[in-house]
Amino acid sequence: RDEPKLKQPVKVLVTGAAGQIGYAIVPMIARGLMLGLDQPVVLHMLDIPRMADALNGVRMELVDAALPLLRGVVSTTDEAEAFQGVNFAVLIGGWPRKEGMERKDLIAKNVAIYKSQAAALQQHAAPNCKVLVVANPANTNALVLKEFAPAVPARNITCLTRLDHNRALGQIAEKLGVHVGDVRNAVVWGNHSSTQFPDASHATARTEHGERPVRELVADDKWLSEEFVVTVQQRGAAVMKARKQSSSLSAASAACDHMRDWILGTPKGTWVSMGVYSDGSYGVPDGIFYSFPVTCEKGEWSIVQGEFLLFCQVDSNGSTTFS
Ligand code: LMR
Repeated sequence: RDEPKLKQPVKVLVTGAAGQIGYAIVPMIARGLMLGLDQPVVLHMLDIPRMADALNGVRMELVDAALPLLRGVVSTTDEAEAFQGVNFAVLIGGWPRKEGMERKDLIAKNVAIYKSQAAALQQHAAPNCKVLVVANPANTNALVLKEFAPAVPARNITCLTRLDHNRALGQIAEKLGVHVGDVRNAVVWGNHSSTQFPDASHATARTEHGERPVRELVADDKWLSEEFVVTVQQRGAAVMKARKQSSSLSAASAACDHMRDWILGTPKGTWVSMGVYSDGSYGVPDGIFYSFPVTCEKGEWSIVQGEFLLFCQVDSNGSTTFS
């Protein structure tokens, strides 16, 4: 077989790298699932001092996996060293939610971490570094980063709602008995929390009769407006109840999807959900991180305009009402 012609290596930071999502995502990145099979990477892995031994174990395993795209590993508990020159940052580090908690209950603990990482990002990262916040509450942590790293363009900071988006596609595929790769253009509006609104109104599925609206294929309107919405909103809690810890492989996979589509572009005619800094589209207030349908081209995201006849009003809990 022919080997792909390789690009120049880029530096990718993963924080919380010794944790569950970190352990799942680093091999995905080092195998090219995030940035492409032609993109060598240098992995920067950060974790807290208490996790230093575990982090070193992950580093050893990366050596043992003999990954040809992996051109170097920096594994450290020092923020400045971790952020040094990075082109992409996937921020997973933070306290995870436990059963019975809402993600907003983590604000007090995680906001301090993001304040300190904002300084490291601004001082040490490469100038156009693109950032994905995974740690909860993701939208709030992204806002803290933006506020405390004012020199970083707001467009370069995003948060993960692709996990909810993928969950929505998965639920639709199961309901219709089709392959998930044949379903597209669901949207998750709002916050990565139980106040989010998963919306299948524009979703389509490829069938033997061509691409058809999901709302026509699912005869049961009540399923789409009730069960589907609640299942996606509560899926993180359901996985946590079953696993006794929060989603890891699906979160890692969604983070790869988010970065890949942002950097390499979304497929033609397909939109995805990303938490981005609001520009006021659809009536969403400016100055908050909110999940919109977006398309991406040449490393830039744009909010899908003109497809939805709706106006969002966001209350102080982050819940959206549509009119
Ligand atoms: C998820 O949605 O699975 C993650 O945000 C973890 C959590 O707290 O639910």
